[in-house]
Amino acid sequence: MAPLCRKIVAMPLITFEGSEGCGKSTQVKRLATRLEKCGIEAAVFREPGGTAIGEAIRHLLQHSEENRGMTSETQLLLFEASCSQLVREKIQPALQRDEWVICDRFFDSTTVYQDAARQLDLGLVENLNAFAISNCLPDLTFVLDLDRATARSRLGNRKKIRDRMEEESDEFHEPVIRTYRELAENESKRVVLIDGRISVEAIEQQVWNVLTQHFPNLGRHQIPNIRHQTS
Ligand SMILES: Nc1ncnc2c1ncn2[C@@H]1O[C@H](COP(=O)(O)OP(=O)(O)OP(=O)(O)O)[C@@H](O)[C@H]1O
Ligand SMILES: [Mg+2]
Repeated sequence: MAPLCRKIVAMPLITFEGSEGCGKSTQVKRLATRLEKCGIEAAVFREPGGTAIGEAIRHLLQHSEENRGMTSETQLLLFEASCSQLVREKIQPALQRDEWVICDRFFDSTTVYQDAARQLDLGLVENLNAFAISNCLPDLTFVLDLDRATARSRLGNRKKIRDRMEEESDEFHEPVIRTYRELAENESKRVVLIDGRISVEAIEQQVWNVLTQHFPNLGRHQIPNIRHQTS
């Protein structure tokens, strides 16, 4: 890592959020690549997942046969278990090593999905989130705002096993999209809403602009005319 870049680092934890298929993983990859061009190696994780325990939980939540009978309470506790393991096993150590951390979904997903589903007490969810994330509140959270129809058509182009959330109906996804917008309004210092309908490159640039505002030294190490990978 270039010595100048090390000085920029104030243990940033950046998260990407939004409804299914809004472009989170695409932008996580883009940002990690862009930081790498600045000499900054970012640790990249996904939630749920990111650890052996978390990946087992992810499978249980998303693809296993057993999840059909899962109660909302069990689902919430599994999300929290994955998150607390990721924080303690991976995120805290990475931040202590002065590494950047990028997370593809984090605790906001739990709040938003539970809020949208309106099955469990939100105060309880927030307390469990606080317990799970400990001191790891993200410095910046990017929410990619994308309507369901566009997301559905994009996901239709993707060849992968469709997970449990993707099988949920539009009536489930619409409140999720709305609740993410409310989150961005209510926590405008930390949460940045980006229009997910624009091109991959334009979103990447908006993310970069916000980051360089927050970490002014970052821009000075920006390499012009970066060639983008196709994701
Ligand atoms: N800005 C964009 N414009 C057009 N297509 C996009 C854009 N961003 C992502 N895509 C495409 O949309 C699909 C979903 O993107 P991606 O996997 O990044 O979304 P995601 O939010 O991570 O989805 P999931 O919630 O399932 O993890 C992919 O095929 C991706 O190439
Ligand atoms: Mg993804």
